[in-house]
Amino acid sequence: MTEKLILRALKGEVLPTPPIWMMRQAGRYLPEYRATRAQAGDFLKLCYNPELAAEVTLQPIRRYGFDAAILFADILLICQALGADLWFETGEGPRLSTITTRAELDALKPVHAIHDTLSPVYETVRRLSRDLPRETTLIGFAGAPWTVATYMIAGRGTKDQGPAHALKAADRATFAALIDLITEATIEYLSEQVKAGAEVVKLFDSWAGSLHGEDFTEFALKPAARIIAELKARHPGLPIIAFPREAGPGYVGFAAATGADCVAIDNSVSPEWAAEHVQPGGCVQGNLASSHMVTGGDALVAETLRVVNAFRKGPHIFNLGHGITPDADPENVRLMIDTVRGA
Ligand code: CP3
Repeated sequence: MTEKLILRALKGEVLPTPPIWMMRQAGRYLPEYRATRAQAGDFLKLCYNPELAAEVTLQPIRRYGFDAAILFADILLICQALGADLWFETGEGPRLSTITTRAELDALKPVHAIHDTLSPVYETVRRLSRDLPRETTLIGFAGAPWTVATYMIAGRGTKDQGPAHALKAADRATFAALIDLITEATIEYLSEQVKAGAEVVKLFDSWAGSLHGEDFTEFALKPAARIIAELKARHPGLPIIAFPREAGPGYVGFAAATGADCVAIDNSVSPEWAAEHVQPGGCVQGNLASSHMVTGGDALVAETLRVVNAFRKGPHIFNLGHGITPDADPENVRLMIDTVRGA
């Protein structure tokens, strides 16, 4: 069998047609996802049910034949595994018990305890590596320490990550210790996903864009570099995708500085800019605006071709710049895939 397309792109091969998958490809825009989530009871029960989590991971593969499947889970499960309370308010998003003092940090569980909570996730990965089509790559993932910390400190999603920046300013030692704890837990979590069958891992730093200067180096770049170095030492040849979302100029050189094989690009930069400044450093992933999955039509086709053409000279994995939204039309996803594969 020839090697899977995503793995070839991650090794730096320039393919005639970029392989494609989509962030949040298993999600609420799909009626079959909504049905399985209802069967599970709620989102977290779905995440911790290996049979149903594997089922929703497979749904977009069956429907569209994407080149990669991403494990169905959430970046916040690790907070729960470390001892935080976690729940999802319908229509609003995640809620967690907060960590704002050294005492609260010290009350969390030790890193090795995370597997007690996360073992169903590893079982989902094992099922997927057995059940996926042989040409489909299985991607595992975790949140990057800074992004996970912003939720653990604030107890919810925040527009400007204010509470995390406030703790960093008021008590940098406690903040840095929290980043270290999440970094160590993330290494163990991703390593177990790889042992269970994940072929690639992706690190989501959704709020990297609010770190600047030395803070970007200390809390986005260095933790990613540490996680990647340790994973590659334990699993030689493991390809790793980093997503320092909205890093802007911070995208330049990010792969070299962290050891990532691929940098995922959001929509705050143009594909032409990323092709010129980021792609020389290796494979890039992205970056069609997810709004086209809602609006469709000629603009979707034109922008899809623009992204494909901008990245044509180097290694590229086609994706959206961020996750697909619940109001997307599944037919627009099909139009995007047909356009990429026909380009
Ligand atoms: O991409 C995939 O299909 C794999 C599964 C996946 C989910 N979340 C499922 C999910 C992945 C990779 C994530 C990552 C994630 N989760 C991130 C980083 C990527 C990003 O979007 O920036 C973040 C910040 C989270 C935390 C999170 N989970 C939030 C803020 C929310 C609520 C907002 C929302 O979109 O509803 C979630 C919920 C969530 N995670 C859903 C899904 C499918 C929707 C939950 C539902 O079905 O009700």
